[in-house]
Amino acid sequence: MACPHARTGPLYPQKHATQRQLSQQQRSKYTVARTSRTETSSPSSIIPSGEPTTEPVCSDTSFRKTGRAAGRPIGDLVAGPVLRNSDYGEHAAAFLSGNFQPIIYETSAVIEISHGETGQSSSLKSDRQPLDFIGNLPVDFPGGKFIYVGPNPKFSREHYKAWGKGPGQAQAKEHTSSGWHHWFEGDGMIYAVDFGRRYDEREVGNYGRFDLQDNESVSKSGPASRKLTFRNRYVRTKSWHDELRRGMRLFRPLMNASGEAFLPNAIANLIFGGNFLKDSANTALCFFANRLFALQDTMPPWELNQITLETTGPCDFDGSLPFFVPFTAHPKVAPGTGHLLFFGFNPVYPPHCTIGSVSPDGVVGPLKPLWHNAAHGATFMHDFCLTEHYTILFEGSMNIRPLRMLKGVHPLQYDRSQLARFGLIRRDKNANMSEVVWCKCTEAEMVYHFVNAWEDSHTGEIVVIGVREDGFFHGALAATGTREWITKTLDQGTSVPRMHEWRIDPSRGEVVSERWLFDDIVEVPRINDSFTGVQNQYAYAGRIHTASLSQEAQLKFDAVIKYDMNTGMKQVYEHGSGRYGMEAQFVPRSSSVPDKDESTQHGESSSEDDGWLVLFVHDEGDANMSAAEGCSECIILDAKRIQEGPIARIMLPTRVPYGAHAMWCPLADDSDHHPASSKHESMLSMIPPEPRAFAISEGQHRALLGAVMTGVLRAASGLFVNGWRPWIAIDDREQYAFIRMFGFRLDELNSLGMFRKEQIETESKSGHIFGDIFALPAGIAIESALPSLTLFELEGCGDCRLVRETLSMLDIACTHRPCPHGAVRNRLAAAAAQTQTLGKRLDEYIYPEDAKLPYLEDERTGVRIAGADQIIEYLYSEYLDGAAPPPMLSSGKLAAMFAQIAVDARGSAKGSDEISPFRRGPSGAFYSRPARTPEKPLQLWAYEASPFCALVRETLSELELSYVLQPCARGSPRRTHLMSRTGGTFQVPFLEDPNTGVAIFESSAIINYLRSRYLQL
Ligand SMILES: [Fe+2]
Repeated sequence: MACPHARTGPLYPQKHATQRQLSQQQRSKYTVARTSRTETSSPSSIIPSGEPTTEPVCSDTSFRKTGRAAGRPIGDLVAGPVLRNSDYGEHAAAFLSGNFQPIIYETSAVIEISHGETGQSSSLKSDRQPLDFIGNLPVDFPGGKFIYVGPNPKFSREHYKAWGKGPGQAQAKEHTSSGWHHWFEGDGMIYAVDFGRRYDEREVGNYGRFDLQDNESVSKSGPASRKLTFRNRYVRTKSWHDELRRGMRLFRPLMNASGEAFLPNAIANLIFGGNFLKDSANTALCFFANRLFALQDTMPPWELNQITLETTGPCDFDGSLPFFVPFTAHPKVAPGTGHLLFFGFNPVYPPHCTIGSVSPDGVVGPLKPLWHNAAHGATFMHDFCLTEHYTILFEGSMNIRPLRMLKGVHPLQYDRSQLARFGLIRRDKNANMSEVVWCKCTEAEMVYHFVNAWEDSHTGEIVVIGVREDGFFHGALAATGTREWITKTLDQGTSVPRMHEWRIDPSRGEVVSERWLFDDIVEVPRINDSFTGVQNQYAYAGRIHTASLSQEAQLKFDAVIKYDMNTGMKQVYEHGSGRYGMEAQFVPRSSSVPDKDESTQHGESSSEDDGWLVLFVHDEGDANMSAAEGCSECIILDAKRIQEGPIARIMLPTRVPYGAHAMWCPLADDSDHHPASSKHESMLSMIPPEPRAFAISEGQHRALLGAVMTGVLRAASGLFVNGWRPWIAIDDREQYAFIRMFGFRLDELNSLGMFRKEQIETESKSGHIFGDIFALPAGIAIESALPSLTLFELEGCGDCRLVRETLSMLDIACTHRPCPHGAVRNRLAAAAAQTQTLGKRLDEYIYPEDAKLPYLEDERTGVRIAGADQIIEYLYSEYLDGAAPPPMLSSGKLAAMFAQIAVDARGSAKGSDEISPFRRGPSGAFYSRPARTPEKPLQLWAYEASPFCALVRETLSELELSYVLQPCARGSPRRTHLMSRTGGTFQVPFLEDPNTGVAIFESSAIINYLRSRYLQL
């Protein structure tokens, strides 16, 4: 029996034809966005109608040979408005400006260089995101990675106003009483130059793996070439995830809170953020026991993948570090034993200090708690030092006294009445490590960073070298009045940070002498790390640019100084006008390891400075430029002759904001850490698997369970097209059918709108599928084949789920632009489009989190809408002939609430073993991972209710890959189209990649393909 409402033919009801096109007047009502159900928590906005805008320039690839930006990426490299001290406090205004201003992109860039027959380096080939290389990389420069870390707040600067004035923050009575943002409280970001492997360090097959992701620059060169890679990545701690998911700051200021606000802020942090302090891992790095960590005082270490620098999770050293024991930012490897020694400073709970060690195989040994008096408070500790036999704690004059809050004073103060003292702890086998011999200094003092310490074999004294500053940074980093204070202090010349020596007699428990070593005002001192704890000769430090401090309240280093501590001589390399360096890292030539006997007995080693200093330098440009428009580079200095300037410069594709500490990470065993496993590698040359209906791959069970739960809770919404109903038809084998039997098939009918019906008719005649971007008939341009609808949406957002269900039900193809948490490209495009319609200039400051989701653009009608309610209403009106959406989609907050509960169920069953919990939020929404941007959008055949399709959609979201969705809900005529396209098979998900020609079934195979091809390592 033939169906009276067959999908093609004249029997489509014509009565709604006039409703298909909304009048301009009708459309205009959709231009007012009701954002009460948008994903962000920002206040509602009005988005007036207007012509569709082109996508803003948000690529981070447009750099000239000099490394300077040729086109300004929106939201980056733009000075933005001058921050008012009244809004931010003097300190935050300074440390959110210039080259302290955060960047928003996570980038990878590659260059391959050749050493050549003369030993001179030359560029061979760059990746599409180029690094420019100038100079000569020595042939014997070791393989490994130079890594730097610093604070990089992730939200727009608006969020870091005095607490109470930023978006989503409870308005305080007096906004200044809740505190100002402090430089130390920004999220951590790491920046690394991977120097790859020297040709003689390279193993057959290993190097090829690196070429996987960089197929434009596949190495065909000879053995004297090497590949340099730059990457920058956020340290994705729990605090980073929590704040991004909420779209706002959760942690209130503490460092620059007033005395009255400190305790309420700390308690609010505990309630809303789960911790008194923000966990940022923004201070320092450590490589030990073949593991790489990002560190912050008072917090546990966060482990990083050594190759990709992605955060893998918090590290408790396989359960041997209790969760309540914090870890210092400056652990040190003890000479002789090779143990990593650390202290944990806890400013809140006693014991306020815990000392311990990690064995070379990565196990934490017995812990020794110190300082139990909670009421008395703690002494602030940031660094310590050690010798062959002693661990040396430093109790400076900066202390935390809770009782100060009763007087309205911040509990952390530089206390001039407290004499500094060193605590000696013997590390002998039978020594009681809790026995601390305290040796008092003669004055109040503070040291943030020690240079080194050793035991003088002639006198038996312990020599300690450090940068002494007597409360200088406490005053210089205060919220207000800093310029005046700094200028006055610099004029006086006291308290400023300079190299200092202490000599301690351990037998008498006394500091026997103290002296200043050099007059330069410096910080971030470093040595050849191999000499830690043994006598050494050379130290390197950054010279503080005092004019920037006094005029801009910014900490910059205009030169790097090499000190000869034996002779008092020094070498200086000045970075040049408008150029400022960061912490320098000594990279040894392979032979420059200490000869312990020689160095300890003779106090010198000819090999100590046999190597290079590596550091980032930022060029702020000329007076007409903002520092944020300048460019950054990585320079290499010969450590024996630093005054001669760089022997090599690597021009970076992105700014490196002034940060904190650097380190050298030796070559990684990439077999353990490289995610391009053999499975992924094989995907690039794979033969697409045969489709297997409802087959579950290994490791998919839990992920599928979550997706099924979401579908059940949504009552299978999005499984059927509008008006779906079964019918019996004669089987012609060319039509899709769920069941075929005895020459009949189960036909599935629909009631689609006139727009879609006409489209189907056109498709039948031309053989061209609307929205097809893959196999186009000759003469059809790509642009004309893309759907007119573009949806910016977030997987795991209930509102966005409602819109996606609507598109499946209406059978409308749409270009999806996923906006996962932490994504930049798509969110920035949405934010820019929305902002432009508000009349702002595109080069004004725009940040990704400004985007309101879901956000729909319809190129055909010029309508642009944010908010699920309005989008759904518009789609039904425009594409279902004015029909009203069903209550399941349109009951306002109730529908949104049920949808959010359903997608949250997805998150309750975390994904397969391959997926780190730190890449997926509680709602199942993925956080972005750095990925390549394909030239053409991919094409996915899928429907909203399918759990297998959900897994693919999540991966596309994770990689922020735009794709054209061809919805194939039950009753969709696309099911037959897909059959004809694949030679008779209907199965979803089915992915087509017009960039590579790959067409592939099976969710697990698709996911592997996407990660192999587009994940940017
Ligand atoms: Fe430090």
